Amino acid sequence: MTEPFTSITNLSEHVGERVTLKGWLNNKRGSKALFFLVLRDGTGIVQCVVNQGNVDDASFAVAEAATQESALEVVGTVNADERQVGGVEIHTESVTLISQAEPYPITPKEHGVEFLMDHRHLWLRSRRQWAIMRVRNRIIMAIHGYFQSEGYIQMDPPVLTGNAVEGTSTLFELEYFDKPAYLTQSGQLHGEAMAMAHGKIYTFGPTFRAEKSKTRRHLTEFWMIEPEMAFYDLDLAMQVVEELVIAIIGDVLHDCRDELEILERNVSQLEAVRSPFPRVSYDEAVELLRSEKTQQVLDAELKAATAEKDELEEERAANRSRYGQAKKGEKRRIDTREIAINKRLEEIEETFRNIPNWKKSAANFEWGADFGGSDETILTKHFDRPIIVHRFPAAIKAFYMKRDPEDDRLALGMDVLAPEGYGEIVGGGERATDLNFLKRQVKEHGLPEKVFNWYFDLRRYGSVPHSGFGLGLERTVAWICGLHHVRETIPFPRLMGRIHP
Ligand code: 4AD
Ligand code: MG
Repeated sequence: MTEPFTSITNLSEHVGERVTLKGWLNNKRGSKALFFLVLRDGTGIVQCVVNQGNVDDASFAVAEAATQESALEVVGTVNADERQVGGVEIHTESVTLISQAEPYPITPKEHGVEFLMDHRHLWLRSRRQWAIMRVRNRIIMAIHGYFQSEGYIQMDPPVLTGNAVEGTSTLFELEYFDKPAYLTQSGQLHGEAMAMAHGKIYTFGPTFRAEKSKTRRHLTEFWMIEPEMAFYDLDLAMQVVEELVIAIIGDVLHDCRDELEILERNVSQLEAVRSPFPRVSYDEAVELLRSEKTQQVLDAELKAATAEKDELEEERAANRSRYGQAKKGEKRRIDTREIAINKRLEEIEETFRNIPNWKKSAANFEWGADFGGSDETILTKHFDRPIIVHRFPAAIKAFYMKRDPEDDRLALGMDVLAPEGYGEIVGGGERATDLNFLKRQVKEHGLPEKVFNWYFDLRRYGSVPHSGFGLGLERTVAWICGLHHVRETIPFPRLMGRIHP
């Protein structure tokens, strides 16, 4: 279909032509006889020059009265202008009001995160949020692209289930016609059934965990991608996850340069993501955590943070001292920079608080314990690319994991830890195939055997070795976009204590 009106992103193909644009007023400058309307339509932004001499009185009145976020239709000619974003600007012929906006709550000044989260429905229009959602979209398409080209069938597991998958502590329970049911924690068990029908499948859907913790990595509703492959062992599954992550990074780097720039993402860190990802056994990881090398890495980070803090405080002081004399535009730049500096300083303060504790807990880490968020962060600091940690103590892993034939204390699980401190983005492994072992496991994990009977059938009728994993979409987006918290990675985050908007 040809466009009913022109998208701003396509304007460079229409230089010299007359176009109709529809969008929202992002920003307005000018006065008296000349206004510059910065119009945003979701595909891009463009400056529309409204010269009183070139438009009718009604158009000029609309331009004069239009408030931030008012919806407008603009007709004008596209002019090439290298100094403008997108390389074009519009010489306006007419402006029509679609709707006048009330005073907009989100202004260029600094807003607290809680305020922004309360206004998430509007915050989504902001430039950074726009960029994040576009990267999220590209990641989603990259995931489908990888699996589809590798012959996987996408299949949808149920969201309402009668089974716990990842233990019972984080289940959202609901009433399902007088019977208890749950929002799914993972599509894996149904994924295993589907893999026995199609060989290689992947699910892509929402999953739920009643996480009673407020961390930067946890949502209560998140999207998980769960491939499941019949006849694949742990090593093959590690190969799949490595290829998948490399494909995602490649596609984002190829198609989302502008978005990553808006997010001020250091792309060299993403470009470093290459094959092979180090395979690190749990035993090796524990050793690394306890090592002198870890203490040194953390000391170096403390030192770097101190230096950065001094530098930022100096810059802030210099900016403040010339603020009085600065022109309006320069003042705005200083304000914006101060917001960024303050945000970074807050993160540095967090580093100062964290590192002494991290040093202690890493040095005293005990074999058998699960890695906490900070342990994962520390582990990834030793590598420039994602690492795959494998063969965890069985006691800290889910009931369905196959035991390591070489060491019965270990489960054939794997986690992918993203670099730069992001930590776990993938969990998975090889599945237990033995019916009696699984029955014992279900009992030992305190799960009701009856509701797992259908799952046991997969071991009764043609049980085969198989493996799979779950990639957390939001954690992947956070890492690739370089975001501190997962709350900005999904349009409407669901966290403990937040169900609106
Ligand atoms: O490690 P998890 O719990 O693994 C499973 O659910 C397996 N059944 C997957 C499988 O083998 N098919 O979760 C997988 C991933 C984590 O690595 C993380 O990226 C994400 O899901 N995840 C969360 N993301 C955001 N908020 C939460 N509360 C999350 N819990 C897990
Ligand atoms: Mg996990």
